[in-house]
Amino acid sequence: MKTPPNIVLVGFMGSGKTSVSHHLARRTGFRQVEMDAEIERREGRSIPEIFRISGEARFRALERELTEEIARGTSQIVSTGGGTWMDPGNRALLSASGWCVWLKVSADEAWRRVGGRIAERPLLAAAPDAKARLRELLESRTPLYELAPVHVETDGLGPEAVAEAVLRRWSEERPFDLPEL
Ligand code: S3P
Repeated sequence: MKTPPNIVLVGFMGSGKTSVSHHLARRTGFRQVEMDAEIERREGRSIPEIFRISGEARFRALERELTEEIARGTSQIVSTGGGTWMDPGNRALLSASGWCVWLKVSADEAWRRVGGRIAERPLLAAAPDAKARLRELLESRTPLYELAPVHVETDGLGPEAVAEAVLRRWSEERPFDLPEL
């Protein structure tokens, strides 16, 4: 085993991290950890509420705390929030804890996937032109997503096909053994 066994999905809103992690958890027998849902569960309130009432900085602190905890665990399929990977400390923790995969999505495809539900995405909902904001955010974040060691395209693919693509990359690289494959 070359690295501790977690598979960590990073990428922009609408890249399919959550639904792909669900398929990967089923295929590998690993535990699915959905960071946004876990933060909501612990706080007893939604992410838009956390942003609105306590501010983005508080959300980022909760995200960091959870990243530290996840990084101590093993056998997890982790779906991060779209901004988790932007923080250098989170990147270091996640990189040391497993195999980090960037799910790539174009701005047009991301908008097709999340544009109808921007109320759930406070960073977009607050902007006067949500689509332009999405484009800008994706552009500014791309150089950091590119730091992930593995890149997988998602445009035009459903979550199951993306999960297959991730597993194909895994079998080429074999970063560690998976129990059920
Ligand atoms: C965020 C993305 C969201 C959520 C929060 C902030 C971001 O997660 O963590 O709204 O900074 O891009 P998804 O990528 O799951 O939408």
